[in-house]
Amino acid sequence: MSFSSYFTNKKGGDRIFSVEASKIKFGRGSLKEIGDDATALGMTRVAVFTDPKVAKLEPVSIVVESLKSKGMDTVVYDQVAVEPTDISFKQGSKFASEGKFDGFVSVGGGSVMDTCKASNLYSCYPADFLDYVNAPIGKAVPVPGKLKPHIACPTTFGTASECTGIAIFDLLEMEAKTGIVSPMIRADIGVLDPSVLASLPPLVRAANGFDVFSHACESITARPYTHRPAPESSQKRPLSQGANPYSDITCLEAINLIGRNIVQAVNDPREENYGALMFAGMLAGIGFGNAGCHLPHGMSYAVAGLVKDYQPQGWPADHPMVPHGISVIVNSPAVFRKTGPACPERHWKAADAMGADLTDKKMEDGGEILADQIISMMRDTGIPNGLSGVGYSMSDLDALTDRSFAQKRLIDNGPLPVARNELKKLFHDAMSYW
Ligand SMILES: NC(=O)c1ccc[n+]([C@@H]2O[C@H](COP(=O)([O-])OP(=O)(O)OC[C@H]3O[C@@H](n4cnc5c(N)ncnc54)[C@H](O)[C@@H]3O)[C@@H](O)[C@H]2O)c1
Ligand SMILES: [Fe+2]
Repeated sequence: MSFSSYFTNKKGGDRIFSVEASKIKFGRGSLKEIGDDATALGMTRVAVFTDPKVAKLEPVSIVVESLKSKGMDTVVYDQVAVEPTDISFKQGSKFASEGKFDGFVSVGGGSVMDTCKASNLYSCYPADFLDYVNAPIGKAVPVPGKLKPHIACPTTFGTASECTGIAIFDLLEMEAKTGIVSPMIRADIGVLDPSVLASLPPLVRAANGFDVFSHACESITARPYTHRPAPESSQKRPLSQGANPYSDITCLEAINLIGRNIVQAVNDPREENYGALMFAGMLAGIGFGNAGCHLPHGMSYAVAGLVKDYQPQGWPADHPMVPHGISVIVNSPAVFRKTGPACPERHWKAADAMGADLTDKKMEDGGEILADQIISMMRDTGIPNGLSGVGYSMSDLDALTDRSFAQKRLIDNGPLPVARNELKKLFHDAMSYW
């Protein structure tokens, strides 16, 4: 079989890619079947993780009712912090340890699903908090074994946390986002019911849509898996393998679905948008779960971690934050302008899937065309104008660069090497777009 020439072998590079994906159930009404799913996984005493806002919405009552109808002892933990921190992860872990549960159900966005994964992990295998956290910030100790069963029910569509072995948090003392990455923390089933998206505020929809888009686009333009050094053993092959033929398929379709639906879903949502967006989020999640993201996400952790006074509409108003999807997409146009020349055809394909008009355009300008298309859609959906739109100025460039240069796993997964001064230039170019 001959793949795209992008995957041409390189001396010392890997020759193998693996495909990991959670079991998924998708469709309206799927949340009503949670009781059966929990029974099949052997759960009898269940912790339902959610956040204070989602706790009051219909998806949580549907899930709790379904669990109780099957005789489950059910306890709701509604104290998950939106954009979680090491402190809120520790609080969730304490609840999980003390409750003697034999199963977990998370109902909420990425914040909730990630907190549930971490709480399940630390309650099963107690350790110093930084032990399982990514190096170099943490020790990246391998997760010792299987966790208790977890059913993840997203109520947003951006993070695809229901498909990934990733849990992200803000490490407060370092003012930086980082995470725990292991296939062991992946949920046993993701249950996706598109009707949950009806109550999402418009800017949260926009932020989710661009998070999906950037997952997909970063995966397609990532360093090919054949150029990543081959691992010493199969067990050491990373989850972030680089672009590969499997991720390409899921990610291009995700971009296509986002391109066709996101502007309308933010400004004039219709029922039919929800299924397409949620499916896109899941597809991109499976894609980036195997390929890995690169620079826009690597830069986003500094943008979120160093937040000053930005308070977006639609998120809790009790503290400033740059929500994940926004912290990512403000970097993406600057990044794709730079990475375009490394693999123009891939940027071109992504721009095409996103709906760009390619008439009279040249493939070698793929990066520029993609950047322009993203900027146009950011404007149409109320996303802030680059880093200046979320409160940063040129005097923050060094701090932003220092914080994100530590995200080696992500930066190395880009299609070209990026030195510190080049990363600083990317933040400079991301300051404002219009
Ligand atoms: N694990 C992963 O693979 C992964 C990937 C990307 C991002 N993340 C992380 O996920 C987090 C962001 O998650 P998110 O974007 O899904 O949002 P979120 O969980 O932070 O929620 C955003 C806001 O929307 C509200 N909300 C959620 N569902 C709602 C609904 N159906 N109706 C009305 N309001 C609703 C929440 O209460 C909150 O105020 C970040 O911490 C990010 O770093 C994780
Ligand atoms: Fe993301």
